Amino acid sequence: MKKFAYVVLTLAVLAGGGFGWLASKKPQAAPPSDIKVEVTEARLERGRYLFEHLADCEGCHSPRDWSKYAGPVIAGQRGSGFEFPAELGLPGKVVSANLTSDPETGLGAWTDGEILRALREGVSKDGRALFNFMPYEHYAHMSDEDAYSLVVYLRTLPPVRRVMPRSELIFPVKYLVNDLPRPLSGPVAPVSKADKVKYGEYLVTIGECKTCHSKLDKGVPVAGREFGGGEEFRFGDLLVRSANITPDNETGIGTWSEDRFVAKFKGFSEMTAENAPPMNQSNFTIMMWLGLSRLEEEDLRAIYAYLRTVPAVRNAVDSHPQPGTY
Ligand code: HEC
Ligand code: HEC
Repeated sequence: MKKFAYVVLTLAVLAGGGFGWLASKKPQAAPPSDIKVEVTEARLERGRYLFEHLADCEGCHSPRDWSKYAGPVIAGQRGSGFEFPAELGLPGKVVSANLTSDPETGLGAWTDGEILRALREGVSKDGRALFNFMPYEHYAHMSDEDAYSLVVYLRTLPPVRRVMPRSELIFPVKYLVNDLPRPLSGPVAPVSKADKVKYGEYLVTIGECKTCHSKLDKGVPVAGREFGGGEEFRFGDLLVRSANITPDNETGIGTWSEDRFVAKFKGFSEMTAENAPPMNQSNFTIMMWLGLSRLEEEDLRAIYAYLRTVPAVRNAVDSHPQPGTY
């Protein structure tokens, strides 16, 4: 579960009379490509890694057991869609799609090109613009190879027959989203692991760390507060604030060594949907510790290297405030 990378409501658009225009505007969309992605074992494994771990597609696209630590995905329903709770404060009813291979209620009848277009360009099979809470603007940076790997993996998701309602955004967001999709301008090359910081930045982009770990204004990180934490996430009576993961020595992770950073994630690698402890206010989190703890160590080290390069933000965060104080 992640939060609002949604539309900036620019008054300029409204004031400039652009609004009526947006209401009738069709999203910028290129026709889906007619590519047929070749299936290989390596792509299947890479796709699984992205879906279950790094990009946590499953976290947004599956029903989860929120009584247990970090909300493990409910067995047998992986990828079958989810309606986000109203208290998250999204602009309307936001429903993630059923991505399983079911031909009627999932992606079974979609072409590879249609899936690729939705993933990185934000346009659904029927041509409608997707709400950018689905982070397609970030996935636009996803390499072709990674995107193909996801297609290969999605085809293997066991079909779950489950009709998900359509998202219903409030006015004016429902029109403003029409202006968000952008066709890719060309092939997207992979980022070389040899440049540890750049590769780490790629992982952080696909992992959507910034959206959760920055103070947001209408879904967009407030300038100068990137990775400084403090954004609040409510779930029923529970509340968590994201941590400050900038290199600030006192309020961030400035004093953490690379090994400590890796150990924090790996500390959850034995936790499973079965043995996860119960979740309550003192340990409530939406950080995907189960999925991210399975990242390759090399990837965690690259993420750390990139996070050392972001500007330090001074912001002390109490992630788990006492009940009654919020
Ligand atoms: C932050 C939550 C979130 C994450 C992470 C996320 N999605 Fe989505 N996704 C959504 C939502 C919400 C929608 C529906 C948007 C709408 O209705 O406008 C969606 C829509 C889609 C669609 C279009 C389905 C349709 O019927 O139009 C595809 C395909 C998709 N997501 C694939 C993925 C993949 C693959 C990943 C991981 C790389 C992923 N998503 C990660 C929230 C998310
Ligand atoms: C869905 C929202 C969300 C996303 C996405 C997310 N985090 Fe977090 N993260 C949190 C929250 C909330 C906390 C505080 C509670 C906790 O520790 O579980 C946290 C805690 C952490 C901590 C612990 C910091 C400390 O001081 O103990 C680290 C490190 C971290 N996140 C790194 C990352 C990285 C790296 C990524 C991207 C790969 C990421 N997070 C993505 C929500 C998120």
